[in-house]
Amino acid sequence: MSLTRKQRICVLLSGSGTTFAAILDYQQRHQTHFEITHVVSDNPRAQGLDRARAHNIPTTVVPYKQFACRSDFDQELLDTVVACAPDLVVLAGFMRIVDSAFVARFFNKLMNIHPSLLPKYPGLNTYERVLSAGESRHGSSVHFVNNVLDGGPVIAQVVVLIDNNDSIATLSARVQEAERMLYPVVIDWFCDGRLTLQQGQAHLDGKPLVTPRIFHFDQHHGELHLESTKSSTG
Ligand code: GAR
Repeated sequence: MSLTRKQRICVLLSGSGTTFAAILDYQQRHQTHFEITHVVSDNPRAQGLDRARAHNIPTTVVPYKQFACRSDFDQELLDTVVACAPDLVVLAGFMRIVDSAFVARFFNKLMNIHPSLLPKYPGLNTYERVLSAGESRHGSSVHFVNNVLDGGPVIAQVVVLIDNNDSIATLSARVQEAERMLYPVVIDWFCDGRLTLQQGQAHLDGKPLVTPRIFHFDQHHGELHLESTKSSTG
């Protein structure tokens, strides 16, 4: 099913906004099925807000620290994003956990990117943890969001090989370069009507994604290569 108009995307971010910038750059360079129509942040000082304003994208701040209680913040965040009337809500370095009412309101159209090969290493400090564990691979996962932290159905992953002399800085730089290529592609699958979430199961091109689509990062050429998909749909 191909959708007839560009899908409206609301991006939520908390920090530098490099993920948002990568999605916007992709939108500007490709014939995408999406358009970023709004950026929302919990942090008034997020650099991502400046990036959005520089491109005349409407922004709204829901300043977390100014709310007396968490539930007031959650309600304001929900109301703000509902008012944006998005077809897809994209979490892009949004460092607050969205509450269950938010998940329920945007279920099936709420996506996140997390810097690990989920289900391994949900939560914070993934680079430190994979290096301490002596892993040989790290990467990033794009997933639909449910009520479990970093626990929703994984759609696609990019695998990045770890070198013996990697530090947090070198590894995170490579993973971030790779994930900035992956996220816009997955967003466009959704906005093209190719990707859906049905009864908690991600579907791509009408078939269940039994395992995520796996890409490998070719750091020498700065490219993603899709792994053979023979076993990833049912
Ligand atoms: C990205 O690397 C993203 O994967 C990660 O935060 C970074 C945001 O960068 N997301 C999470 O850790 C979510 N749990 P940015 O602020 O420059 O876009």
